[in-house]
Amino acid sequence: MSAPRPAPLLEAIELSKDFPVGRKGPGGTLQKVHAVDKVSFQVWPGETLGLVGESGCGKSTLARCLVRLYDITSGTLRFQGQDITRLGTRQLRPARLHLQMVFQDPYSSLNPRRRVGDLIAEPLRVHGRRKSGEIDARVRALLGLVGLSPDHLNRFPHEFSGGQRQRIGIARALALSPQLIIADEPVSALDVSIQAQIINLFSDLQEQLGLTYIFIAHDLSVIRQVASRTAVMYLGSIVEIGPTQELYDTPAHPYTAALISAVPIASVDPRKRRERIVLAGDPPSPMDPPLGCRFHPRCSYSSARCRSERPALLEIGNGRSVACHHPLNRGSGASLPLADHAQVDVPGGNSGPLCSAP
Ligand SMILES: Nc1ncnc2c1ncn2[C@@H]1O[C@H](COP(=O)(O)OP(=O)(O)OP(=O)(O)O)[C@@H](O)[C@H]1O
Ligand SMILES: [Mg+2]
Repeated sequence: MSAPRPAPLLEAIELSKDFPVGRKGPGGTLQKVHAVDKVSFQVWPGETLGLVGESGCGKSTLARCLVRLYDITSGTLRFQGQDITRLGTRQLRPARLHLQMVFQDPYSSLNPRRRVGDLIAEPLRVHGRRKSGEIDARVRALLGLVGLSPDHLNRFPHEFSGGQRQRIGIARALALSPQLIIADEPVSALDVSIQAQIINLFSDLQEQLGLTYIFIAHDLSVIRQVASRTAVMYLGSIVEIGPTQELYDTPAHPYTAALISAVPIASVDPRKRRERIVLAGDPPSPMDPPLGCRFHPRCSYSSARCRSERPALLEIGNGRSVACHHPLNRGSGASLPLADHAQVDVPGGNSGPLCSAP
């Protein structure tokens, strides 16, 4: 008999975040940006969940809702089984110890006038650690964990390279021994060789400390290296989620297929090569999202149903879920190569757009 699955560490249920923008719409009501729109997913202890999607699809807003840096407009957020959706600052403190964020640009999140030792000690002081000997020992241990040396304690952030600054950001996030780290594009601003070092650091720390990650990137090749499961976001919603390898091999949502087709594959096997699918147009405005499926104006598979009925995120087996009325790669027991779909359905052949406006 297989062991029962542990409870999710974090669970989002129909989570939404709107930003009022102070402009009036057609009916005289204030317009809102629907940055995150009814997002549901679970994160399991010890896993890395990758979150990908085009710029502006709501990844950072979702991340900030998950650590409660933003108030949540509607829906439910549970951490370690506790509903933390509307907890006030004081009630939230115990959960905050275990929920930390790493940001894309460590430089802007580090006070340039403070020394590295102080920057790393700050979360410890904020959370009530008072003994300077204890703080100093912890800061030195954290520097070692992230591959920096005690010589760095008295330096300022501008004396470090981008990769080293990200190490400082990671040390700060680790200070309170969190369980879950949400890393928002932590390697996007770094050179490729430095990216690899920081990715390795994340993976070593996960192994050493049993951490759970939500790792955000717009680059699917980065997500492929780090994430055991991947969620794909489009215009505020998750359109597909599942084990990373399966999602890459047999994408079920046409948007996932288009994103993956842009990832270069170094393979001599022609069956593994994919045709690049270029999406037509920009994503619609999250202030006025299309009716029905949010992706339908850019999707060549779109039907009348897609234009009127919003697809729910439904399980399709093997731990995968997709929000699409016409999912790809289904029925044949697994994998139609993506290029076959493109060749059958793309007007103008594979060099043209996957999707054309209806
Ligand atoms: N404070 C805010 N006020 C109003 N609109 C906002 C605010 N923050 C984000 N938005 C809007 O919400 C949407 C989602 O933005 P968000 O920054 O979460 O996207 P993202 O996926 O992280 O993009 P990127 O890949 O560029 O970082 C965008 O349309 C953005 O303009
Ligand atoms: Mg972002």
